[in-house]
Amino acid sequence: MHIGPLLGSGRTADVYALEGPWVLRRYRDGIDAAGELAVMSYLSASGFPVPRIGPRAEGALPTDLVLQRLTGPTLAEAMLTGVVTAAEGAGLLARLLRELHAIPPRLSLDTGDTILHLDLHPENVVLDPEGPRVIDWLTAAEGPPALDRAMSCLILAQVALDPSFPAGAPVRDLLEALLRRIDEDGGVPAEALARATSLRGRDPRLTAHERAVLDEAAALVAALGG
Ligand SMILES: Nc1ncnc2c1ncn2[C@@H]1O[C@H](COP(=O)(O)OP(=O)(O)O)[C@@H](O)[C@H]1O
Ligand SMILES: [Mg+2]
Repeated sequence: MHIGPLLGSGRTADVYALEGPWVLRRYRDGIDAAGELAVMSYLSASGFPVPRIGPRAEGALPTDLVLQRLTGPTLAEAMLTGVVTAAEGAGLLARLLRELHAIPPRLSLDTGDTILHLDLHPENVVLDPEGPRVIDWLTAAEGPPALDRAMSCLILAQVALDPSFPAGAPVRDLLEALLRRIDEDGGVPAEALARATSLRGRDPRLTAHERAVLDEAAALVAALGG
């Protein structure tokens, strides 16, 4: 496998160009990507918009995934540059959550459970010319869909409370619009918000600021969603 230039980096993974239409997504800290491979393959077969899974590369590590190379901005970038409005962004996030939660679970025998992304926010949606694609399935799990809606809102609220985030970024508008959009799907019940808050509090990847504003973020979601 010939590893090309670095295309992108998030909190946990680096993404490099490979030959052809593929990228190599590699975890920096030794996380095994096998679980993600399974859930992404299942979602792909179910028609959910994830990047296509590529052929297993020679010399690949357990931390690697070969994925379809996406082009285009993330939803976060498109909103910061004003290409996408808060209302449009909220509509897209709500639709992706709803479509994901309409797919039968892969493992759970509980009829109320669905696949959950648990990190579905604008940086994990790429606006590819073929359509929006949801990336970064590290935190995927199965459980009640309200937990996923709560987590997306809680993450947006944490960003809305971050003073280092570009001023004037319409994150609060996005959160308000998302809460309105997901209301018809069941919204964010208090119990789901409490569970999302506790789950997020246990995430070792949170920054000090994100941890400090976690309870305030939960209160903001409750206030705006109530
Ligand atoms: N399939 C892909 N094609 C092109 N770029 C990608 C692809 N997947 C991820 N990226 C880029 O890499 C960045 C980090 O990827 P992501 O899967 O979100 O990892 P992390 O867990 O580190 O956030 C993304 O923001 C995006 O810029
Ligand atoms: Mg990411």
